[in-house]
Amino acid sequence: MTEILGARIVENREVARATRWLVIETDEPPEMAYVPGHIVALYVPSPGEKWVRHPYTVSWAEGARIGVLYRVVRGGRTSPFMATMTAGDTLRLGGRFGEAVSTLVDPEAAAIVGVSTGSGVGPLHGFAARALPNDPRPITLLAGFRDAADAALVPELDALAAAHPHFSWRAALSRPDAGALAGRALAGRVTAHVGTLRALGVSPLATHWHLIGNGAMAIDLRAGLLAGGVSRERVTFETYHNRGTSPDLAVVAAIAAALAR
Ligand SMILES: Cc1cc2nc3c(=O)[nH]c(=O)nc-3n(C[C@H](O)[C@H](O)[C@H](O)COP(=O)(O)OP(=O)(O)OC[C@H]3O[C@@H](n4cnc5c(N)ncnc54)[C@H](O)[C@@H]3O)c2cc1C
Ligand SMILES: NC(=O)c1ccc[n+]([C@@H]2O[C@H](COP(=O)([O-])OP(=O)(O)OC[C@H]3O[C@@H](n4cnc5c(N)ncnc54)[C@H](OP(=O)(O)O)[C@@H]3O)[C@@H](O)[C@H]2O)c1
Repeated sequence: MTEILGARIVENREVARATRWLVIETDEPPEMAYVPGHIVALYVPSPGEKWVRHPYTVSWAEGARIGVLYRVVRGGRTSPFMATMTAGDTLRLGGRFGEAVSTLVDPEAAAIVGVSTGSGVGPLHGFAARALPNDPRPITLLAGFRDAADAALVPELDALAAAHPHFSWRAALSRPDAGALAGRALAGRVTAHVGTLRALGVSPLATHWHLIGNGAMAIDLRAGLLAGGVSRERVTFETYHNRGTSPDLAVVAAIAAALAR
């Protein structure tokens, strides 16, 4: 579908450092329902330019309302301006593109692991929140952030874990600090912690892995999972930026070794 709809902002608030939760409402109901993982093109009336367009991944949707978690990139062409927009401001929305996370997941997999960096945690949280009431399979999220101030949706993820015994999540901080997650976050990049998931009862080869965020993370982790024996169909991904890097072979080998242990 390629329809372009008028829309207005309902909510645009900071939920972690330079990370915002945006809810927009389309003027007419979209022809097809959105669920977490679908992609929309947001057309923003950036100053000095007509309309700047970027893709964003749906984290939440209900009727004509769509929620997106986005990073405010320093020096970025669009996101710093988006951060200044307030309730009632207008924009346009094109789409729907991409696949729902739920349709990508292998129905035969015994468990589901989502791995994110930065704002990629949004659609993973949204997917889990929709799936958990109906899907009895364990769902585990590993969310990577630079430091605790960047960690978005912590209360929401904690609430999901409290409500659903078959859900668990961990944050991994690449530059751990003494912030709000002190004592409960893993130290290092998400790719260093694939082995840790075993302690949460995750059996890597029986799991479907969905990766969202920095392209280099997805490239390294996918290569490591495949090298460790996970089947191609059970590793799906969505990259926001930093695509086209070559896999870091040392990281790939370490992930494969962690799966073998
Ligand atoms: C399929 C797809 C879905 C996407 N969904 C989301 C989403 O749900 N949330 C979201 O925050 N972004 C998402 N993005 C990225 C988004 O489209 C924009 O690129 C981002 O908002 C930056 O736009 P900008 O104009 O401010 O910066 P630009 O001037 O376009 O880029 C400046 C720099 O920002 C870096 N960058 C871009 N996106 C990110 C990011 N998310 N986190 C950290 N650094 C980044 C780029 O590497 C680039 O070097 C998605 C991208 C794609 C391709
Ligand atoms: N306006 C502000 O105040 C402010 C403040 C902070 C950030 N920002 C903006 O946010 C942007 C960065 O966003 P971000 O931190 O969400 O994005 P990011 O650069 O993608 O980093 C997110 C996490 O992914 C990790 N990562 C990167 N490559 C990886 C790989 N190959 N494998 C595994 N993990 C990997 C990073 O680790 P490493 O740390 O090891 O790279 C970090 O923990 C910057 O462009 C900046 O402009 C703005």
